[in-house]
Amino acid sequence: MHDQWKAGLEDVIAARSAVCAIDGAAGRLFYRGYEIGELAGAVPFEDVAALLWTGERPDAAQAADFRARLVAARGLPAPIEALLRSLPRDCHPLDALRTAISLDAALDPDVADSGALANLRKSFRLMVRVPEVVAAWHRIRSGRAPAAAVSSGSHAAYVMHLLEGVAPSEDVARVMDVVLTLHADHEFNASTFVARVAVATLADLHAAVVAAIATLKGPRHGGANEDVLRMLQEIGDPAKAEAFIEARLGARGALSKAERANPKARVPGFGHRVYRVDDARARVLRGMAKSMAEATGRARLFEVAERVYDAMKARTDLPVNVDFFSAVVYDALGIPADLCTSIFAIGRVAGWCAHAMEQYADNRLIRPRAEYIGVAPRRLAAAVA
Ligand SMILES: CC(C)(COP(=O)(O)OP(=O)(O)OC[C@H]1O[C@@H](n2cnc3c(N)ncnc32)[C@H](O)[C@@H]1OP(=O)(O)O)[C@@H](O)C(=O)NCCC(=O)NCCS
Repeated sequence: MHDQWKAGLEDVIAARSAVCAIDGAAGRLFYRGYEIGELAGAVPFEDVAALLWTGERPDAAQAADFRARLVAARGLPAPIEALLRSLPRDCHPLDALRTAISLDAALDPDVADSGALANLRKSFRLMVRVPEVVAAWHRIRSGRAPAAAVSSGSHAAYVMHLLEGVAPSEDVARVMDVVLTLHADHEFNASTFVARVAVATLADLHAAVVAAIATLKGPRHGGANEDVLRMLQEIGDPAKAEAFIEARLGARGALSKAERANPKARVPGFGHRVYRVDDARARVLRGMAKSMAEATGRARLFEVAERVYDAMKARTDLPVNVDFFSAVVYDALGIPADLCTSIFAIGRVAGWCAHAMEQYADNRLIRPRAEYIGVAPRRLAAAVA
């Protein structure tokens, strides 16, 4: 073995990909060459998904076809609704989603076919099934029936309709559209990498997406936006933000490295493996969080977030990440803390499918090595004697 081991594979090039590029030093992100700040809000999420999957922005006919295929996939299968109804009410939304997508595999007519066309068909279905499950579980656990599928409206409007049971305003649909685009892909983040590892064994697309959902849950990854919203709610008052951050960061001085690694000893929404400065997504979300919070009478939570941001910037050089201000946007959309990571999944499934299809198209088993640091070879006989 030649290469030096890197903890957490930091900066290791694990594969080649044409889907997404990150410039960590400059805080820039590109989908298929287009900068995220240019795409978000200007190009509808459906076209962004088409771009990620095919490599090019769709022309008008292709865009209409893409939307029609998404709409055709709408409608939660009855066995999935029955499964959700059987879950304990306190089941975490991401656990419900992971479980339901496993069942969706069993119901999918193409589950055993990993050919390119079958994978495309399954990708459309997964794009729709993920928000349908997320919303259905949220409604069921709060004593409401899942909203019936509708055949009109954009994908983002459908997501809000499923959650609320009524068509959203244009403004709300536009905010959700931008949120989905901002979360759609992010190179070799943990959940996407896991999806590619699963695909590389030639496991099917549903298996890869289930593995990705499982990985997204952790507080080092998508789970952080749930923690952000809880933290902001706990702080509650902008005047208390400074002292909260001071106390949390100050306490770290007395902790061991292992104790400092505990998510509860960190400030969620800050720090990133690749970015050294605030990234473009966070900048877009910060602006949206402000206007949304003001429009919905939740400006206080945004103010708390701003004071936390200032306190972190005054004390650390950690960049703010996508999970921080997205939590404020989710709150303004009426999304509770434990549902935040599931909304992330509704956007990211586009990227999981894009990477899975890229991996299938040019595949080699992903099977790295470990540097062995255990006990040197020894004899059982000698030990027994
Ligand atoms: C994202 C994250 C997992 C990246 O981790 P990483 O590249 O492995 O970096 P490390 O965990 O090695 O952290 C490097 C140092 O910065 C500190 N640090 C990183 N993020 C921090 C945070 N949010 N709050 C306080 N300290 C932080 C670490 O404690 C560590 O210092 P230490 O060794 O003295 O304890 C990490 O920044 C983090 O846990 N952030 C909070 C959770 C979060 O927002 N996740 C969403 C990511 S999009």
